[in-house]
Amino acid sequence: MRRLCFTIFIAILILITSCGSADEKRIGVSVYDFSDSFITEVRNAISSCSENDIPVTIVDAGGKQQTQNEQIERFIEEGYSAIIVNSVDRTASGVLIEKCRQNNVPLVFINREPVKDDMAKWDKVYYVGAKAEDSGIMAGELMADYWLSYPEADKNGDGVMQFVVIKGETGHQDTELRTEYFIETLLSKGIQLEKLHEDTGMWMRRGGYDVMSSFLDRSGDAIEAVFANNDDMALGAIEALQDDGYFRTSRFMPVIGIDGTPSGKAALDNGLLLGTVFNDAENQGRAAYNIAKELSEGRVPSSESIGYPLSDGHYVWIPYKPLPGLLLSGK
Ligand code: BGC
Ligand code: CA
Repeated sequence: MRRLCFTIFIAILILITSCGSADEKRIGVSVYDFSDSFITEVRNAISSCSENDIPVTIVDAGGKQQTQNEQIERFIEEGYSAIIVNSVDRTASGVLIEKCRQNNVPLVFINREPVKDDMAKWDKVYYVGAKAEDSGIMAGELMADYWLSYPEADKNGDGVMQFVVIKGETGHQDTELRTEYFIETLLSKGIQLEKLHEDTGMWMRRGGYDVMSSFLDRSGDAIEAVFANNDDMALGAIEALQDDGYFRTSRFMPVIGIDGTPSGKAALDNGLLLGTVFNDAENQGRAAYNIAKELSEGRVPSSESIGYPLSDGHYVWIPYKPLPGLLLSGK
């Protein structure tokens, strides 16, 4: 008898837990790589929005587009009400949009901007990010400010800034535009430039360390300035510079990053990072969640309902902000 009761109890339990109501809403989130520091902040923001609200399932594509495609397919099959994607390869966005359009599952891209033609394929597609050009301009202004205020920055006194760039992933809008506008901004201020090296650190701290070590092997003290496309790579570069004897006594190297992550900010505060540009993870995550929520509930998102200004009906741009380090703010 006891055993029978127990079996019935378990059976009822299974029944209750397995059949959530058909119109239960869920938001699926797939990000390119869980080990990325900035993206980790964005996904934490998304999951905190979901507390006491529409639940989210967040999955890691582990840097593989194929894995991400399968994750999206699974979200569609399982009846998710909206999907947020931080694509592995932004040129694959068109395929994802097509898949979601066929199944009428709205899509919000974050951080890796699909090309305009893909965005135009369906009206239930949105993008939340930050204007890459602006971050390049702000990073250039921070470096220019240093160069123009500290004449000793021109170590060989030739009137030219010999610099290196540690780039993010090739093809990412933030890699290409940050680098381009950084350079353009310095040139527009009349600063002469010579780029000694550039290479990709794949957004990762280890990558920044390796790339900077190899630049130092090749050019050593001829390097006068370092621009890393994000803070993690800037921190890796700083470690390589420290291993080479920099940041002790008078050996200084101006290093600029982008993001203002907690560890980036700590490096600003102790004078290792010359400056960075704040990339607002919290608000990017929140805006993406709010859009996905509206779409899940069958409404067309508006600036009022999501709490962020919508541009062209489908884009939310979260502003960047320059964060000067000790040397620049203490002038
Ligand atoms: C951030 C990087 C991050 C990348 C990932 C960029 O906007 O600045 O830190 O690695 O996005 O896509
Ligand atoms: Ca020089």
